[in-house]
Amino acid sequence: MRKKVTVVGAGNVGASCALRIANKELADVVLVDIMEGVPQGKALDLLESGPVEGYDVNVSGANDYAPTKDSDVVVITAGFPRKPGMSRDDLLMANYEIVKSATEGVARFSPNAIIVVVTNPLDAMCYTAHVVSKFPNHRVIGMAGVLDTARYRTFIAEALNVSMENVTAMVLGGHGDTMVPLPRLTSVSGIPLTELLPQDKIDVIVDRTRNGGAEIVKLLKTGSAFYAPSAATVEMVESILKDKKKVLPCAAYLEGEYGIQGLFVGVPCKLGSNGIEQIYEIQLSHAEKAELARSAAAVQELVDVLKSKGA
Ligand code: NAI
Ligand code: 2OP
Repeated sequence: MRKKVTVVGAGNVGASCALRIANKELADVVLVDIMEGVPQGKALDLLESGPVEGYDVNVSGANDYAPTKDSDVVVITAGFPRKPGMSRDDLLMANYEIVKSATEGVARFSPNAIIVVVTNPLDAMCYTAHVVSKFPNHRVIGMAGVLDTARYRTFIAEALNVSMENVTAMVLGGHGDTMVPLPRLTSVSGIPLTELLPQDKIDVIVDRTRNGGAEIVKLLKTGSAFYAPSAATVEMVESILKDKKKVLPCAAYLEGEYGIQGLFVGVPCKLGSNGIEQIYEIQLSHAEKAELARSAAAVQELVDVLKSKGA
């Protein structure tokens, strides 16, 4: 039997996820959105690409959750994107209500699904999906680290004029300005980055990575990035559906790992058919630990706002 993926939010990120999932023939896709006709229209358009692209998956759209029944994976992209000058955190309360209602819908019809959260502010929205769904920790996962790492890898490949594929790296922490790229653990085909680029050039790349989302928002003027975000999301979905056990930086619920308690923060995870199958607690330097703690504190602040409003 084919796998089934629900994508909630048929906007830029959601529709791009559906397109990539269909193109890779990973699963049947159900797109859900509140906009009448939009998920249905985009789904039909995607379905009609099948004969040309050569994929045999079903793509359908809905304004309710009944058609999402028994999904293997649910990707939540519903919510407002950033506008110029807005931080991800400005989105907090508006997107809280949206992610809450999306999670209620998917949890009701797919109690065994793995939820991949994309909506911003990412780490706080993971918290929301976790609390509302009551799913176990390993079945609620946030997408941010794969995207942030992809940006970091792109900038390094550009600076060194090497293949992007050869750049191996991890960006940890929350999905915000406090994210933690790790130059010490970055390599190009095994050659440490620190032997290839001087510190000042690395610093510029780290800074550009931290502002990678804002750079795109500034250029687009209406809305935020969606090609790289959907590629990153679908890498995670594929690892889950095919039980590939890729080790990827994901927002995971931490219970003491890295000294962080009861929060979603980006850390290296093994993703397989059970969702997060392992969280890797790697040795960090004193400075890296401090950066991760600062990033976790920024996530905690948002979660505290949610809690103070009874969320
Ligand atoms: P978009 O505006 O293109 O699409 C959002 C869609 O959500 C719209 O079609 C809207 O109708 C729908 N929606 C709103 N309320 C809903 C509800 N209650 N139920 C179902 N659907 C609902 O926005 P885009 O660009 O697709 O971004 C979506 C979210 O993903 C934003 O919050 C954005 O900040 C976030 N994002 C996160 C990234 C990450 O790295 N975690 C990367 C890129 C985007
Ligand atoms: C990004 O990093 C907006 O969070 C989104 O592009």
